[in-house]
Amino acid sequence: MPEAFAEKQLAGKSALITGGGSGINLAIAKRFASHGANVSLVGRTKEKLDAAAAELRALGAKAGGYAADVRDYDALSAAIASARSDHGLIDIIVCGAAGNFPAPVLGMSANGFKAVVDIDLLGTFNTCRAGFEHLRRPGASIINVSAMQAVSPMAMQAHVCAAKAGVDMLTKCLALEWGSEGVRVNSIAPGAVDDTEGMARLAPTPEIREHYTNMIPLRRFAQKDEVADLALFLASVAAKFITGAVILCDGGQSLTGLGGRLSSAPKRETPKA
Ligand code: COA
Repeated sequence: MPEAFAEKQLAGKSALITGGGSGINLAIAKRFASHGANVSLVGRTKEKLDAAAAELRALGAKAGGYAADVRDYDALSAAIASARSDHGLIDIIVCGAAGNFPAPVLGMSANGFKAVVDIDLLGTFNTCRAGFEHLRRPGASIINVSAMQAVSPMAMQAHVCAAKAGVDMLTKCLALEWGSEGVRVNSIAPGAVDDTEGMARLAPTPEIREHYTNMIPLRRFAQKDEVADLALFLASVAAKFITGAVILCDGGQSLTGLGGRLSSAPKRETPKA
């Protein structure tokens, strides 16, 4: 796939990405690294982060892994402070850490619902709150990774829908409060993205995958690089007057919805709680 941006967009910038050890967030990290940014990865598993950071260094970036669970404010604060001490003031934060499992409301415990809300919503709050003091201001950009579930209800995804809708409202409130500090805050909301843990869980069979594909006006899933291009745009000077926006990257799927055609959805086994 051709690169959407020819020139290096982030030379001399420093980025911090939660959940950056894999998936869409690692694709964003690689895009940032290849555009000249230093990248700090935060996640739960140090070995996974170290392997991902090595991939970024192979692209010519300074990169490091900092282990913390975004639900643990003190550990997260310490990880962000270490990243800042290694790589300097932070220009870009991507709040990408997320959790998901498909389950109907009656198939999840209160703790299961809370686990996802805590990772997605509280984790985003924690990262923004703890990261603020380390931001280079004015000029910093925060990108929260939301999802189509924030705007389109979906069966078996009540926890994610609620959490991501909260993330988008948090994005807007932070944009209001931090605009005068020169900090932009935006959400990106991917739809179905190929080759991710999330889609492996949500579309585990060819029939379910085909069902989703038929609901997407562009008739395919996104590539991770396409979501990374949107993050790169929002991190770059090209987006300097954009804040408080929730930008879908879904091939138009939100136009047809996620859970509104259940009668035509292929049957799937209901996961056990
Ligand atoms: N169906 C119903 N409940 C489930 C479940 C499932 N498939 N998977 C987990 N849960 C419940 C657990 O039973 C537990 O509730 P309980 O204490 O009442 O039994 C609760 O969720 C927390 O699970 P636990 O494994 O202890 O939490 P965790 O913090 O280690 O993991 C998850 C969090 C559940 C979100 C886990 O899937 C995760 O870590 N995911 C990260 C990766 C990911 O999801 N990536 C995709 C992002 S789109």
